[in-house]
Parts: sequence; C-alpha cells; structure tokens
Amino acid sequence: MGHPIITNSKFIVTFISVLLFLRTESTEPPFSCDSSNSNTSSFPFCNNSLPTSQRVNDLVSRLTVDEKILQLVNGAPEIPRLGISAYEWWSEGLHGVSRHGKGTFFNGTIKAATQFPQIILTASTFDENLWYRIAQAIGKETRAVYNAGQLKGMTLWAPNINIFRDPRWGRGQETPGEDPMVVGKYGVAYVRGLQGDSFEGGKLKDGHLQTSACCKHFIAQDMDTWNNFSRYTFDAHVLKQDLADSYEPSFKNCVEQGKVSSVMCAYNLVNGIPNCANFDLLTTTARGKWGLQGYIVSDCDAVAIMYTHQGYAKEPEDAVAATLRAGMDVNCGSHLKKYTKSALEKQKIQESDIDRALHNLFSVRMRLGLFNGDPRKLEYGDISAAEVCSQEHRALALEAARNGIVLLKNSDRLLPLSKMKTTSLAVIGPKANDSEVLLGNYEGYPCKNVTLLQGLQGYVENITYHPGCDFTNCTYAAIDEAVVIAKKADYVVLVMGLDQTLEREKLDRTELGLPGMQERLVTAIAEAASKPVIVVLMCGGPVDVTFAKDNQNIGDILWVGYPGEGGAATALAEIISVNTIQVKGEITGHLDPKEFNKIPMNDMRMRPVSTNGYPGRTYRFYNGPKVFEFGYGLSYTNYSYSFASVSKNQLHFKNPKVNKSTEHGSVLNIAVSNFGLEVCNNAMITVKVAVKNGGEMAGKHPVLLFLRHSNTVDEVPRKTLIGFKSVNLEAGANTHVTFDVKPCEHFTRANRDGILVIDEGKYFFLVGDEEYPVTVFV
Ligand SMILES: *[C@@H]1O[C@H](CO)[C@@H](O)[C@H](O)[C@H]1NC(C)=O
Ligand SMILES: *[C@@H]1O[C@H](CO)[C@@H](O)[C@H](O)[C@H]1NC(C)=O
Ligand SMILES: *[C@@H]1O[C@H](CO)[C@@H](O)[C@H](O)[C@H]1NC(C)=O
Ligand SMILES: *[C@@H]1O[C@H](CO)[C@@H](O)[C@H](O)[C@H]1NC(C)=O
Ligand SMILES: *[C@@H]1O[C@H](CO)[C@@H](O)[C@H](O)[C@H]1NC(C)=O
Ligand SMILES: *[C@@H]1O[C@H](CO)[C@@H](O)[C@H](O)[C@H]1NC(C)=O
Ligand SMILES: *[C@@H]1O[C@H](CO)[C@@H](O)[C@H](O)[C@H]1NC(C)=O
Ligand SMILES: *[C@@H]1O[C@H](CO)[C@@H](O)[C@H](O)[C@H]1NC(C)=O
Ligand SMILES: *[C@@H]1O[C@H](CO)[C@@H](O)[C@H](O)[C@H]1NC(C)=O
Ligand SMILES: *[C@@H]1O[C@H](CO)[C@@H](O)[C@H](O)[C@H]1NC(C)=O
Repeated sequence: MGHPIITNSKFIVTFISVLLFLRTESTEPPFSCDSSNSNTSSFPFCNNSLPTSQRVNDLVSRLTVDEKILQLVNGAPEIPRLGISAYEWWSEGLHGVSRHGKGTFFNGTIKAATQFPQIILTASTFDENLWYRIAQAIGKETRAVYNAGQLKGMTLWAPNINIFRDPRWGRGQETPGEDPMVVGKYGVAYVRGLQGDSFEGGKLKDGHLQTSACCKHFIAQDMDTWNNFSRYTFDAHVLKQDLADSYEPSFKNCVEQGKVSSVMCAYNLVNGIPNCANFDLLTTTARGKWGLQGYIVSDCDAVAIMYTHQGYAKEPEDAVAATLRAGMDVNCGSHLKKYTKSALEKQKIQESDIDRALHNLFSVRMRLGLFNGDPRKLEYGDISAAEVCSQEHRALALEAARNGIVLLKNSDRLLPLSKMKTTSLAVIGPKANDSEVLLGNYEGYPCKNVTLLQGLQGYVENITYHPGCDFTNCTYAAIDEAVVIAKKADYVVLVMGLDQTLEREKLDRTELGLPGMQERLVTAIAEAASKPVIVVLMCGGPVDVTFAKDNQNIGDILWVGYPGEGGAATALAEIISVNTIQVKGEITGHLDPKEFNKIPMNDMRMRPVSTNGYPGRTYRFYNGPKVFEFGYGLSYTNYSYSFASVSKNQLHFKNPKVNKSTEHGSVLNIAVSNFGLEVCNNAMITVKVAVKNGGEMAGKHPVLLFLRHSNTVDEVPRKTLIGFKSVNLEAGANTHVTFDVKPCEHFTRANRDGILVIDEGKYFFLVGDEEYPVTVFV
C-alpha cells in the first residue's frame, strides 16, 4: 500500500488557515482595544486617561446578559464586536513560570523558564529580600512569555500561604512552613515582586500590575485526602481563636500589606459554610476589613461541588447565587457558565450581582494594561524572551538553593569534605539521577536539565552510582549490591526521601518515616561503609529521621527540600565539597516523630488539650516530642549570640476603664484594641542582638528572635517567632542585629472569641540559647 495522495482542496485551505492561525497565535499576545481597529478603539473603556472604575462601568454597560455570563469562568471568551480579547484567568507561577494551569504554552520560541526551588526550601533562607527578588524574576519571565505570545493571561494563582499545619499534608511543600509570621512575610514579598511593586511596597503605579498574584487557599485548607476525608467535602471545624492567630494572619498581611490583586477561596467548608459561599469571609473580611482590591476566584470546580458533593446547594442555581452573593467573582470551572442564566430566570440572583463580579474582573485586566492597545508598546512591553532563563535568574535559583539547604547533623565536622577531586564517592538513591524530582509540584520546564548525581560529577571524577531502591517508595531495596559499592568508596552519599508519587496535591502521606525499605537500606550501608555516611534528605514534608540522628555511622543529614533546577545540583555539590560555601538554611517547620501519625489530620485545633493528650500543632503550640525544633539548622562555622541591649524590660498595659479577663483559667489579659496608636508606639522595644562568627569561615546566617511566656497554659503559645534577619559575617567578626518589637502585634494572641489580647506576666526574648526577661503589667 502506498501513501494516499491528498488532492482535496478543502483540506489544503484548512491546512493553510491552521498554519496561519498557529503563526498568529504563537506571536501575538491577546489584548483588547487594538488601536488599529477604529470600530472599537474609541470606546471610553479603551481610554487610558479615564479612571479604571469609569472604564469598567462603560465596558460592562455595553455587554449583553449572555456576554456577561460567559465572562464569569476562567476561560473568558473574546467579544469581537467590542474588540475585547479572550482571557484565560488560570495560570500558575508557584516557583517559576509553570506548565500547569491553562494560560501558558511552551511550544513557541520559549521552551523553558527558570524553576526556583520549591517554596518550603526557599522559605528556609529566612531572607525576605531573596523571596522578593525571586518573585520579581518570575513576574518578568511571565511578561516575557506573554510578550512572546505564549501566555493567554497574566493572573498567576500563587503564592500558597496556608500554614503547614500537619506534616502529612501533600501540599505542605508549596508553603513557606508552619509559622504564620514567616508565611505572611513570604506572601507579602512574593506578591510585591510578582506584581511589580517595590520591596517596601506602596509604589505600585496607579495600581498598574506587572503580573497579578493570588493568595490561596482562603481559608483553612491544609488537608487534601486523609482517611475518608477529602478537601472537596471536608467541613473544617475551626475555632475563632485559631482563625484569628493562626489561619487568618497570612491572608490579612497578603491583602493589607502585599496589596494582592486576587484571593482564591478554597474547596472546603469552614464551620458548615463552603469558603466560596462565605459572605463574612469574602466580603466582610477580605474586601471590607482588609480592603482587597482585586478579584476572588474559586478553586477549580469549587462552585459545582457545592451541588454535586457537598449537598450545600439544593439546586445548581443555588451554588451560583451563594457564590456571587458571597462576593466570589470568577469560577474556575464551568458551573457559572451553565447555570447563571437559569439562576437569573429563577430570580435567585439579579444582573447587578453579575455586574459586581465583572467590575472586579475587568479592573484587574485593565490594571495589567490589557485594554490600552498593544501592551508590547507599553510598560513591560520590552521584556523579551532573552530575560527568560537569563544568567541572572539562574544564578538567583542557585542562590536560593545554596541558602535554603539545611544541615541537620554534622558529626565530627565530616562536612565539608576536603580533597574532593581525589576522593571516590558512592552515590546511592532512587532519585539521585532524576532531574524531574528536583522541581517539586506546580513545576515548569527547567532551563537546564541536571540531576544531583550530575552535579556531583562536576566536582568528583570517581563516582559509582546505584539507585538502591526500585522506586522512591522502596518496596524493594538492593541492599547487598549497594553495600558492595559503598564499601569500596571513600565516602557515601545516600539520596533518600520522597517525591511527587508520595506527597502532592490530592495525596497526603500516610506515614511520617522514610518510605518502604529506605531506612533499612541506609542503616545497612552506614554499617558497612568505611567512614560515616552522608544522608541527603529530599522531601517537602518533614520525615522522621530519628534513626539517622542517633546512628553514629551516619555523619551527616542535609535536608534539600526540592531544590529546583540546575543550580540545585551545583549547590549540593558545593555544600558537600567546597569549603568556602556555607550551609545557611534553618527549617521552617519542626519535625514530628512517627507517632504523630495517630493524631487525626482533620482535627484543626492548634492548641493542645492537656486533659486528653491532644498535643496541639506547629512549634507554637505542639507539646509532644520533636525530632528537630523549628528554626533548627547547623553551619560549618560557629555563631554565638548575646543581648547587647533591650530598650525596656517592663511594659504597662493598664486601662482602668477596661475589664481584664482570665478566661478559662488562662493568665490575666486585656484586649489590645483598648490601646490606640500612641500607647502602642510608646510600647515599642528595640532589641539589639550581638552576633559573633566564632568559626573559621565567612558566612550568611539567619538570626531568629522568639518570644515566650513563662506561664505554659494551653491557651498561650509556647513560643512565637517575632523577628528574623540575615547577617553576613567574616570569620571571627561581630555585628549587631536590631529588631523593632511591637508589643501590640508581637505580644498578642487570640482569646476564645477571636479577639487579640496581651497576657500579663513574665516573658522572655529568646535568641539561640540566650534569654532576656521582660514583664508585662495589665
Ligand atoms: C501551542 O499550544 C497551544 C495550546 O495548546 C495552542 O493553542 C497553539 O496553537 C500551539 N502553538 C503552536 C505553534 O503549536
Ligand atoms: C469595522 O466595521 C465595519 C462595518 O461594520 C466592518 O466592515 C469592518 O470590517 C470593521 N473593521 C474591523 C477592523 O473590524
Ligand atoms: C479620553 O478621556 C479624556 C479625559 O476625559 C478626554 O480628555 C479625551 O478626549 C479622551 N480621549 C479620547 C480619544 O476619547
Ligand atoms: C471510610 O469509608 C468506608 C466506605 O464508605 C467505610 O467502610 C470505612 O469505615 C470508613 N472509614 C473511616 C475511618 O471512617
Ligand atoms: C544519569 O542520567 C543521565 C540522563 O538520563 C544518563 O545519561 C546517565 O547515564 C545517568 N547516569 C548514570 C550513572 O546512570
Ligand atoms: C531531562 O532529560 C531527560 C532525558 O531527556 C528527560 O527524561 C527528563 O524529563 C528531563 N527532565 C526535565 C526536568 O525536563
Ligand atoms: C511504588 O511506586 C511505584 C511507582 O510509582 C508504583 O507503581 C507502585 O505501585 C508503588 N508500590 C506501592 C506498594 O505503593
Ligand atoms: C574509583 O573508586 C573505586 C572505589 O569506589 C576504586 O576501586 C577505583 O580504583 C577508583 N578508580 C580510579 C580511576 O581512581
Ligand atoms: C562552637 O563554640 C562552642 C562554644 O564556644 C564550642 O563549644 C564548640 O565546640 C564550637 N563548635 C565549633 C564547630 O566550632
Ligand atoms: C466590668 O465588670 C463589671 C463586673 O463584672 C461589670 O459590671 C462592668 O460592666 C464591666 N465593665 C466593662 C467596661 O465591661
């Protein structure tokens, strides 16, 4: 049989038009108000000199009801008669321009984008400026991809600022850890960088956005699947107290300080109400109290499930009404496309409910500069494809990996190894020669495809590699073979841990130890090797490595998170080998022992309940045993701290007009709302910490300042991080780090009504092992 010869002219026409279509699509970014179309460019909504709200009013007034309805979903179609382009709301950018979502495609000139480390690792640098610079780079690359015609929308659904409440959560890797302040500061830095604001904030020109960020998932979504619970139907019972001082603060910061242009409401219900149908949450709190300027998007299909899974909406139209009335603006999914018309007909909503949502949506598109003619001729229009995967951005990814990797154990100062060139190394681990695993989830295509093994091969000539396990789950381990290899080598590096088959979206872990036979493999090799071995722990969620901590044959434990592309491999190799590169990170979570697995994941309470053994959650409240403490991290050098000066050691928060409270046997306290700005400003404490690098190497080092109350009742945090700063210190050098402590913020916790109070009594500032007392009178 020969090849069929196509002579059909219809086919040829179609073929040519497909070619033309592809060509235009891969080079022309979508925008509205094309100045070359005189039919549409003269509409007032295209006039950039008018205020945005006036432009949006004009635009919405020109739409028919049917046109309006189609704009309420993530894939918003074009409206040719008005010169309005299509828009895809769903793009992702958690730690680099992502291949997930619907907005980006990498089949044009741009094939890859810089993939920074997964957030849990970047966060452990405790470096706000670095977080900001990474987001700035991602924002730039996003614009470049748009300018190249490979992006259908510039609304990125990142950052993920839920706190990492439970170590099993498959998406904990996406978050900056378990501390609300760190998560909040990360969110603010990330939003400012992405949106084109300055590091200090407040300089967003006329609200003009480089790209739009989205703080998700609002709120209390930190479990995907556990036993029979799923995020789609989970009704999280959240106490007002925990909401106020654990779950909400990062979102509040993100909106108030970050000025984020979007919030995503989460799938789950909180105290009986689905988040996307919660008027109090979306309208009263986010828009009202915090002043959100932007759009609220549902997580994907979160509207439909109110009818199909949650039994919250009796009819499909009830879900439309509940969400639009609550203040949600756009539905990721298609429910609003299908049922908004009938909701109108059944009078469950009014057209004004739709207009309200459209106002928020078109405002953001205008702030992105998509209604001013060709954006490539305007601000951000000259960001070219050369900015993607630039040397500068890749160096930044390397910097993040270098500064984020945490040294958890370094017995007898085994690391850094000297004379690497002449050493022989055995590298063992199922993912040590995999480049995909380094990226974590919500990844994109990396600029450079390198594995940890290849990174090490750049430093050591004589490496023998063995995967050790069949898969990461290690249902089978080739212990004998691996032992033979390990015995021959001078040093052994074991790359162990997890990957996306074991922790990811829709997949929480079922155990906290190393999976399958990994632990047995490590122990056997450590026993056989001639020198103590080095364990490289690759994972997002914490893994209980007590066995390795206690095993003398295991010299080192290095946690590398999911360290990102290219640079990550270099970073690890440098840390292991080159004695001028420091390990700098400190963990943003505490590590629970395996036994924590018996605590139900659906129990949302943060505070312990001493009477029934519930241990509480996160380092602020958890009172059980720990493998490593929050903020733990060793260094190749030796830092010591002392309190150089503290401007006050007493604080008086007395107000004779206000009753103090001792709710539920707690310490005497007073609501902070009783004190105005003046009292609060006067209470400010300047804490100066002296830091000395007592070792033999220069280094960068994060200094963490905590506060703890002397009275350890369940209500009161055991300790709270109140400040962090990085210092760069030469060997033997000293410096001072100054923290401005704001008692009306840093000394507060929520009471059971969700009101922020200050407890009386003795507190301590903590840095390292040093303590400094301060007493509060109410
Ligand atoms: C690239 O992929 C997008 C999305 O699938 C598609 O619309 C477009 O036509 C493709 N372009 C090329 C040049 O293949
Ligand atoms: C402008 O409108 C006229 C009349 O409807 C039409 O013939 C022409 O094609 C339109 N131009 C563009 C660029 O759409
Ligand atoms: C745009 O609006 C400004 C301010 O109202 C007005 O002066 C100007 O004429 C408008 N431009 C066009 C092209 O309509
Ligand atoms: C989970 O659901 C299954 C099937 O509905 C049921 O048999 C099982 O008892 C449930 N497990 C728990 C822990 O509730
Ligand atoms: C590591 O992976 C690369 C790329 O897949 C491959 O070319 C190389 O042979 C592997 N190295 C070893 C030692 O297996
Ligand atoms: C790197 O290259 C290998 C072999 O071509 C491929 O299988 C792998 O998916 C690539 N990794 C990434 C992260 O793109
Ligand atoms: C282990 O992982 C492999 C590959 O991901 C999978 O096919 C296998 O089912 C897993 N085994 C178990 C017991 O989960
Ligand atoms: C490489 O290291 C192995 C031990 O792992 C050793 O047997 C071998 O001789 C070394 N090869 C070279 C070229 O040094
Ligand atoms: C660091 O300093 C402490 C106290 O001065 C000392 O005990 C310890 O041995 C030093 N460690 C290193 C690694 O220099
Ligand atoms: C303070 O407590 C007293 C006695 O319980 C009560 O009568 C009074 O109304 C309270 N004052 C305020 C301001 O709440």
